[in-house]
Amino acid sequence: MVYLNGEFMPIEQAKIPVLDRGFIFGDGVYEVIPVYSRRPFRLGEHLTRLQASLEAVGLSNPLAAAKWAELVGKIIAGNPWEDQTVYLQITRGPAKRDHTFPKGLKPTVFVMASELVPPSAELVRSGAAAIVLPDFRWLRCDIKSTSLLANCMLRTAATQAGCAEAILVREGELTEASASNVFIVKDGTVLAPPKSRLILPGITYDVVVEILRANTIAHQIRRVAESELRSAEEIWITSSSREVLAITTLDGAPVGHGGDAGKPGALFARIHALYQEYKASVMRAPAHA
Ligand code: PDD
Repeated sequence: MVYLNGEFMPIEQAKIPVLDRGFIFGDGVYEVIPVYSRRPFRLGEHLTRLQASLEAVGLSNPLAAAKWAELVGKIIAGNPWEDQTVYLQITRGPAKRDHTFPKGLKPTVFVMASELVPPSAELVRSGAAAIVLPDFRWLRCDIKSTSLLANCMLRTAATQAGCAEAILVREGELTEASASNVFIVKDGTVLAPPKSRLILPGITYDVVVEILRANTIAHQIRRVAESELRSAEEIWITSSSREVLAITTLDGAPVGHGGDAGKPGALFARIHALYQEYKASVMRAPAHA
């Protein structure tokens, strides 16, 4: 079951006009919210980021936070899986084709869910392969825009190279990956690029930084040079669908040094376990109103 403009329906019945600016221009924003045991994870944070994306593109939020929560709850209840990915998208709506944002449009609001399948235990144990590519996206990567052609091109290049992800560099610095944030380990310290207009402010990134802080694991939020990425002891990617996943080969070469090169590192194992513990504790906590 999906939601489109005020109504619930089977996905086959959900239709939008061809002049919708989401279709014509990619003029819309979206969110992807993980749901565990039918409870949305960090919903408030996702709705806050949605608000920021909407404001950045001059769209007003069609629903109050409580209404979003109610709607997300109905979508979760209307779908068969215990663990889900709730996808929501708002576009500016249908209008005569004109680049300038027209005033007074009725936005298109769409929400769907799919089954959430986190990385398998085997993938967590082995880690994944990535390639490094130039970040040729625009300069507002902080907006969670549905205009994802560049991300799709980059991810497809990674897939064609037999890799799970493309890690991106701009002017000699690590930004993020095609659909995830990136952490590295250097001299035993975890490093992550600061939030800026060049990366999406990941909700999973925030959770990982909170875990690092709470467990006094050495870390620095600072710019990361491409050379540091390429010589990292460990590389991790984070996203709502992949949680925290180790990258164990980069451009075909094993990540890390010594006998453990090419295997997920000790810090990854610790963070992964802490992340799972945190998730479980949140899901056990009583549901708040
Ligand atoms: N992608 N950076 C980019 C470019 C992303 O597309 C994503 C998420 C992230 C991680 O954000 P979060 O931790 O909030 O999921 C970083 C989602 C999952 C997607 O587009 O499907």
